[in-house]
Amino acid sequence: MLSGTTFDYTNRMKDLAVIKTVALEAAQQAGELLRENFRQGHRFALKSGFRDLVTEFDCRAEEIIVSLIQKTFPQHSILTEEGSVHPADTSPYQWIIDPIDGTTNFAHGFPFFAVSIGVYCEGEALLGVVYNPIHDELFVGEAGQGAQLNGQPIRVSHTETLRESLVMTGFPYDERLIPKHLAWWERFARKTQTLRRLGSSALALAYVAAGRADGYWELDLKPWDMAAGVLLVREAGGRVTNLHGDTLNLYGGEVLTTNGKIHDAMIRILQGERE
Ligand code: IPD
Ligand code: CA
Ligand code: CA
Repeated sequence: MLSGTTFDYTNRMKDLAVIKTVALEAAQQAGELLRENFRQGHRFALKSGFRDLVTEFDCRAEEIIVSLIQKTFPQHSILTEEGSVHPADTSPYQWIIDPIDGTTNFAHGFPFFAVSIGVYCEGEALLGVVYNPIHDELFVGEAGQGAQLNGQPIRVSHTETLRESLVMTGFPYDERLIPKHLAWWERFARKTQTLRRLGSSALALAYVAAGRADGYWELDLKPWDMAAGVLLVREAGGRVTNLHGDTLNLYGGEVLTTNGKIHDAMIRILQGERE
């Protein structure tokens, strides 16, 4: 466990070291709860429609993470999916947390979900932690320091063309977006080697960072789905934009990430241009 640490605004590197210790501890403690309670036949509540689930463990994992952060950094802003705290406006630091990214997978006993913790300073990503407790895979990206999986450096793939690529996506909860998404799915199915849908955007981003997938796009996302993962991809040498190829807006709902080499080809497909 961490002891209460005095926070020093004048030394960002020192700050970051403590932030990282807290983030790793939080991801691992929350992950332990999820691992212990996985495959228990979870009851869930619906947040909207019939697809947007929340389980008791989303809230319990979030409580673990938030209480660890607040113990060390009571002045930091915290934005969480389950809304257990509200952003403060007194600190340049903001934690953006999804306690279970992939709740539907978790509730069905499908072992692809992650704790996702992103830390930002005045809007700039400092740290991204994505932890899949079932596979015991801890992805960590630190601004300017690269990305790692279980302590080993990771890099995006070298795949040069769409025809050789494994590309990932997710399906939006909002039914009005499904026709657009299916049209994209068909175009990518014709142009890529294969397509995958994991059910966790945080893990999809981590998989691009680790070179397991060459590209990933999705619509209808929230900041906590991508806050940590986008830093992993950047730090692993990949490219992160919106679907037009412009600067990512974490609050803009959409993301395109690739190894860099297939980025423009993916944009052309997403924008409906002729190949
Ligand atoms: C969801 C997952 C899923 C994505 C959804 C997200 P949740 O997050 O990341 O892959 O397609 O848009 O909402 O609800 O499991 O935290
Ligand atoms: Ca999520
Ligand atoms: Ca979630």
